[in-house]
Amino acid sequence: MKKNETKSANIVIFGGKGDLAWRKLIPAFYNLYTHGYLPAQFTIYGVHYEKMEEAAYEKHLLEGVNTFSRSGKVKKQEWKKFTQHIFYFEGDFTADDTFRRLCETLTANDKAWGERAIRLFYYSVAPRFIEPISLFLAKHELANDTSMDRIVVEKPFGSDLHTAHELNQLLTKHFKEKQIFRIDHYLGKETVQNMMTFRFANIVYESVWNHNYIDHVQITVAESMGVAGRGNYYEQAGALRDMIQNHLLQLLCITAMEPPVSMDSEDIRNKKVDVLKSVRPLTKTAAKEDVIRAQYGEGKVNGKKQPAYRKEKNVNPRSTTETFVALKLFIDNWRWQNVPFYLRTGKCLEKSTSLIVIQFKEVPHSLFDRKTIDDPRPNQLIISIQPEMEITLLFHAKEPGVKLQIKPVEMDFTYKESYTAAVPEAYETLLLEVLEGDASFFMRADQVEAAWKVVTPILELWKKEAAPRFPNYAPGSWGPRTADALIKQGGCDWTLLPENGIIKNVMKKRK
Ligand code: BG6
Repeated sequence: MKKNETKSANIVIFGGKGDLAWRKLIPAFYNLYTHGYLPAQFTIYGVHYEKMEEAAYEKHLLEGVNTFSRSGKVKKQEWKKFTQHIFYFEGDFTADDTFRRLCETLTANDKAWGERAIRLFYYSVAPRFIEPISLFLAKHELANDTSMDRIVVEKPFGSDLHTAHELNQLLTKHFKEKQIFRIDHYLGKETVQNMMTFRFANIVYESVWNHNYIDHVQITVAESMGVAGRGNYYEQAGALRDMIQNHLLQLLCITAMEPPVSMDSEDIRNKKVDVLKSVRPLTKTAAKEDVIRAQYGEGKVNGKKQPAYRKEKNVNPRSTTETFVALKLFIDNWRWQNVPFYLRTGKCLEKSTSLIVIQFKEVPHSLFDRKTIDDPRPNQLIISIQPEMEITLLFHAKEPGVKLQIKPVEMDFTYKESYTAAVPEAYETLLLEVLEGDASFFMRADQVEAAWKVVTPILELWKKEAAPRFPNYAPGSWGPRTADALIKQGGCDWTLLPENGIIKNVMKKRK
């Protein structure tokens, strides 16, 4: 990150006392501040409807930073200086008066600072508040400067194509598209941002990054945690809406996109939209056969008891919400013709891990006697997004000895070994990008809608068809057997990161 040279900034968090502000936003701003990335003149207003003393608000935020900040507990002096920029702002999101007062406050700051500051309005609120907030911001001309004023919208961005389209229309009625930053926090992860560099700053991969050399691609985002008290939200969402429509499809875009014309945000986003538009629409049969949904039952994860999803707080005891999805997609363009992309995500799985696996094809003609090859799997490139941050290339090597014996070995690039600097949190990177007005790693309106289009046939089928018999996977497992069967049809298995040099999940040799 380069040090911030942006102008003064007025930052307004609607939902300033909410969970996201507490766990992510304030810790991120604090780290940006202590590392010198915030401008000299800035304020952060946490807007919330309750009455609250300034000191109580600070105490609440301090607890959040001390618990969740990647840099650990605050340094007292730095925290004291930081809090001089933070203010609690009592106000109802649906009341005209809140915005009138906000307008007065921000204008007074501009006057005191001697310049019109950047304005960042963060919607960390339930979807129903997006409309009144936008309306009042527009009415009070709070975000009228289209090059200086920014709106940040959190997910969920709609619950289907129709609602996402309506939301886009609502926002673009009041603001210009370039002012709207739709956040997908996966795009702020260091390893995800590095995908652009990895793919487009190196020549060696580009020539093999296509259907001639790649057998298939796997994208796994597995979590060992359950819904962790978010039953209310999750019941309406499920894994398809919560993870596939956004995070996994964004990973797909970054893996499959063509090189952009430049690093300009529009050029980058154009290429990502192209990927989503090229996803082969799922037919009814494909939505049925190539999409697996499942829900966890009761059991144990890492030795700890885990109640069934249906027994979680605020979950319907007969819920048919899926906590696991695996699916197969194809991208109909020249580069990816007939290369399956397998995506899977789930809660309460054996471990938390996010991986992109590029499975290469076999060599066209093997010179070696099959008996000399320990593990015949073709080359694999494993990009580990988290928690390990590494890129591993698996290739064959001759084991030292007088006789020829071939074994796969790993070539690793790990952040741990290569860098000493701490890796920023996704929200730090993204918030700085918003302040700088760089939307490259944010979703454009058409991108969000194109992603909803990809999952629409599945949503439509699920609306009509009864769910399979839930629960259908055990916590601590890798999901239902049907998800393994889905990828096995293509002659392979789900791949995990090699652990302690042991390469797991051997790819089956194709017949
Ligand atoms: C959120 C989902 O967007 O991403 C959560 O709503 C999920 O259900 C989370 O747990 C995963 O994010 P991360 O950064 O922990 O992988």
